[in-house]
Amino acid sequence: MSQIAFHLNGAPIRVSDEAPTRTLLDWLRETRGLTGTKEGCNEGDCGACTVMVTDATGSRALNACILFLPQLDGKAVRTVEGIAGPQGQTHPVQQAMIDHHGSQCGFCTPGFIVSMATAHLNGASDHDDQLAGNLCRCTGYAPIIRAAKAAETAPVPEWMTTDRDIIRSSAGQGQSPARGEAEPAPRFVQPRSSDELAQWYLANPEGTLIAGATDVGLWVTKQLRNLAPVAFLSGITDLQQIEDQGDRLRIGAGVTIAALRAALGPRFPSLGELLRRYSSEQVRNAATIGGNIANGSPIGDGPPALIALGARLHLRRGDVRREMALEDFFLEYRKQDRQPGEFVEAVTIPAKAPALRCYKLSKRFDQDISAVCGCFNLTVADGVVTEARIAFGGMAGTPKRAAAVEAALLGQPLTLDVAEKAAARMAEDFTPLSDMRASAAYRLATAQNMLHRYVHDLNGTKVSVLEVRA
Ligand SMILES: Cc1cc2nc3c(=O)[nH]c(=O)nc-3n(C[C@H](O)[C@H](O)[C@H](O)COP(=O)(O)OP(=O)(O)OC[C@H]3O[C@@H](n4cnc5c(N)ncnc54)[C@H](O)[C@@H]3O)c2cc1C
Ligand code: FES
Ligand code: FES
Repeated sequence: MSQIAFHLNGAPIRVSDEAPTRTLLDWLRETRGLTGTKEGCNEGDCGACTVMVTDATGSRALNACILFLPQLDGKAVRTVEGIAGPQGQTHPVQQAMIDHHGSQCGFCTPGFIVSMATAHLNGASDHDDQLAGNLCRCTGYAPIIRAAKAAETAPVPEWMTTDRDIIRSSAGQGQSPARGEAEPAPRFVQPRSSDELAQWYLANPEGTLIAGATDVGLWVTKQLRNLAPVAFLSGITDLQQIEDQGDRLRIGAGVTIAALRAALGPRFPSLGELLRRYSSEQVRNAATIGGNIANGSPIGDGPPALIALGARLHLRRGDVRREMALEDFFLEYRKQDRQPGEFVEAVTIPAKAPALRCYKLSKRFDQDISAVCGCFNLTVADGVVTEARIAFGGMAGTPKRAAAVEAALLGQPLTLDVAEKAAARMAEDFTPLSDMRASAAYRLATAQNMLHRYVHDLNGTKVSVLEVRA
């Protein structure tokens, strides 16, 4: 069986006798007695299980309930037990939570403390965003946010920086000590390059690829599925790059939503805002854009934005590569144009899209999946629409372009009148479903309203839902 090596609260650990889909949460609680890390939802929603994970690229908060042990290989994990100092000194965020009465029953508190300590280490002061993935049922968020603010200026305790030193000093020494090479039938592989992955997947087309595990994690914790054989993609650094090719950007499949937000937010502010509302800090730190595309969800937030941008998808099977318009990848509900043994290598998008706007409608503002996600990207020249790309999530069994609406806009001036007539054609493009997130009629009406909002938006009217004006 393959081995995994990582540091836990500063101490080196080797694990060789666990299933590859053993979650960090279960392992911590059941084999290490580290019960400070709590189980709330066991599906990435509540943050009670938050741990800090450090690798060569930095430290981030992750949900231990949907984190498999092999994803930690070569990294350093800090649980709530490692947030206080070695002599029991309180961390500044712990002291601030005491001073500001940030805890009542205390069940959520360890998760909050780890998220707050990680944000403190990283110098992040957007506390609402940093803590949107930590749910508290009894205290209320105001005292917790006050505590986070109060701790902002306190120096980072020296023990919180040791994980970075550990990772730095072990750089270049490889990750796990054995990685299964000499073993007869490793139950998982951790390719270090896309070439290695291509070879393995060609030979094991029935295998499961695991990138951030924010979908796959739930197949294990909720559906109790056996996934073997599996390949963990988190060590494939060549899939984690964003390459500036001049007029286009090539985004590797392994780029996380957090990294995507950091890289694309300044270029495409509306997309940046959409990604800010993509789940929570913990999920954005794990989830990859490749996983978001490959899972084929009709309500994923990445595909509508990428389709509106005119993204091209790059697939690879062995040494054979092909590319297609992203919208052509989604054939029908949960059915994608992907052959056995073929994986998503990258997606390319134009470097500029000044008219791109993305609107996410969900029941909660933070940490919620879209009921409808509408993304618009029109080109207007000489007073008329010359190019139209409009894509929606939540309106069909796949992420889909609004072809009839686009046709109605082409060649027309971008006025509210024209938008009204084009929006009426939305019913030709979509027959949405009614489900727990929204009724069909509501989905259609909101999608039509989004087109109006877009026209107002391009005409300079303030349309932010965060601004309430009399
Ligand atoms: C609490 C929570 C909140 C969420 N909120 C949102 C949200 O707001 N918006 C949203 O869009 N999504 C949301 N999701 C869904 C999820 O985060 C995304 O679908 C995510 O992008 C999946 O990426 P991953 O790297 O975690 O994929 P994984 O779970 O590792 O994999 C997902 C699927 O893709 C396959 N796969 C992964 N990488 C590749 C590849 N390179 N080539 C081929 N196949 C591959 C896997 O085999 C699997 O079938 C949420 C999930 C959770 C748990
Ligand atoms: S237990 Fe709720 S996010 Fe992990
Ligand atoms: S203090 Fe009770 S759930 Fe937050």
